[in-house]
Amino acid sequence: MVNRRPLIAGNWKMFKTCQEAVDAAIQISVLVADVVSDVDVMVAPTFTALALVSDKLEDSPVLVGGQNLYWEKEGAYTGQISADMLVSAGCKCVIIGHSERRQYFNETDETVNKKIKAAISAGLVPVFCVGETESEREAAKTFSVLDKQVQKGLEAFSPDDLKSLVVAYEPVWAIGTGKTATSEQAREVHSYLRVLLDRSFGADLAASIRILYGGSVKPDNVSELMSMEDIDGALVGGASLDPETFSKIVHFK
Ligand code: PGA
Repeated sequence: MVNRRPLIAGNWKMFKTCQEAVDAAIQISVLVADVVSDVDVMVAPTFTALALVSDKLEDSPVLVGGQNLYWEKEGAYTGQISADMLVSAGCKCVIIGHSERRQYFNETDETVNKKIKAAISAGLVPVFCVGETESEREAAKTFSVLDKQVQKGLEAFSPDDLKSLVVAYEPVWAIGTGKTATSEQAREVHSYLRVLLDRSFGADLAASIRILYGGSVKPDNVSELMSMEDIDGALVGGASLDPETFSKIVHFK
């Protein structure tokens, strides 16, 4: 059996000024220092705070990630940030295809695919988000929606390209709503995602990819979620903003 190291990632979305982000990152690095030998920890501040936070975390194993990128290397693309720019700001990872980007900023499976490619070329770990909406779940379309997101998002990659890939299953109806998928609902989807990965990229890659759960993860539900087979970590939004709360999630064991 492959040993997948748990990853707990905090997505700070459009919260925290530079100073607030630096303060929170420093507190987190201290609070989680006793478990980082067993758990990978990542924080994703806003673009403006990335370089400062990376600088402060230079001697800490806590990883810094971007929340998005643009796939071109450089050019006249006002307001965009490239993969190399994230690397130069100290990022090791990047969240791609978050449902808020799909919902509000025209992110499609095709743009997600280009972004994952750019991330991999720059040596960033892509945290590739997928998930169904409430109406899709009610219409029993969860698996077909995920099928499409995974097929198109990962189109034309080889298993070798995807060695560092992390997948995050985030049911849209559970994000920021306080409604968490039950551990059984999450387990069912995670197992399905692993089957999809196996079908497209083979058993070895499928067994090694970490699949995170995201959607109202809190200190009081993380342990049960993490006890499920195929759940290898969490992508945490609201509960990652407070260092003490996020640290409790990182200490899920
Ligand atoms: P939430 O957000 O934990 O606030 O539900 C999760 C996410 O959007 O990644």
